[in-house]
Amino acid sequence: MKIEKRDWLFIALIVVIVGIFLAISGKEKTKVVPNNATHKEVYDVAYQHAPGPDASIFKRAFFRPAKKAAEKNCESCHEANGIKLPPNHPPKHRCLFCHKLVK
Ligand code: HEC
Ligand code: HEC
Repeated sequence: MKIEKRDWLFIALIVVIVGIFLAISGKEKTKVVPNNATHKEVYDVAYQHAPGPDASIFKRAFFRPAKKAAEKNCESCHEANGIKLPPNHPPKHRCLFCHKLVK
């Protein structure tokens, strides 16, 4: 079988897709928001409108935690408790994009 230019493009495309897939499937490295007494208020706000266990499967599938509302107090409370971000911390608006909630 002769491999034509078009086939090479196709092969290159697959290599790129597999590469991206491997790059983003790496283990989660950023620390999660601990699900502890201190962070209870974060979880309470984020899941305040969470559908109950007997809600329809669609409601549960499409539910997203209220991250924006839950993020409001992260910094002020950390400041009050003397918790500093590491010096090389990335741009920090939208904490919950990186620091995941665990449930
Ligand atoms: C009511 C106070 C308070 C609020 C609000 C709060 N934190 Fe914290 N956070 C703490 C304290 C205190 C610690 C130190 C460890 C602990 O007690 O959990 C901490 C630790 C952490 C840690 C480090 C955990 C670890 O494993 O070392 C992360 C990450 C974090 N907070 C993220 C967040 C994010 C993101 C938010 C907002 C969505 C938030 N926190 C809101 C008080 C707070
Ligand atoms: C762009 C991604 C990103 C955003 C947004 C972000 N962080 Fe981080 N954060 C990181 C990374 C990466 C680290 C260092 C690795 C680690 O320890 O999780 C870190 C570390 C931390 C730590 C130290 C954890 C420890 O005990 O070592 C705290 C506390 C923290 N972030 C809080 C916050 C807060 C509060 C916000 C929002 C104001 C925020 N982060 C937003 C990515 C992010």
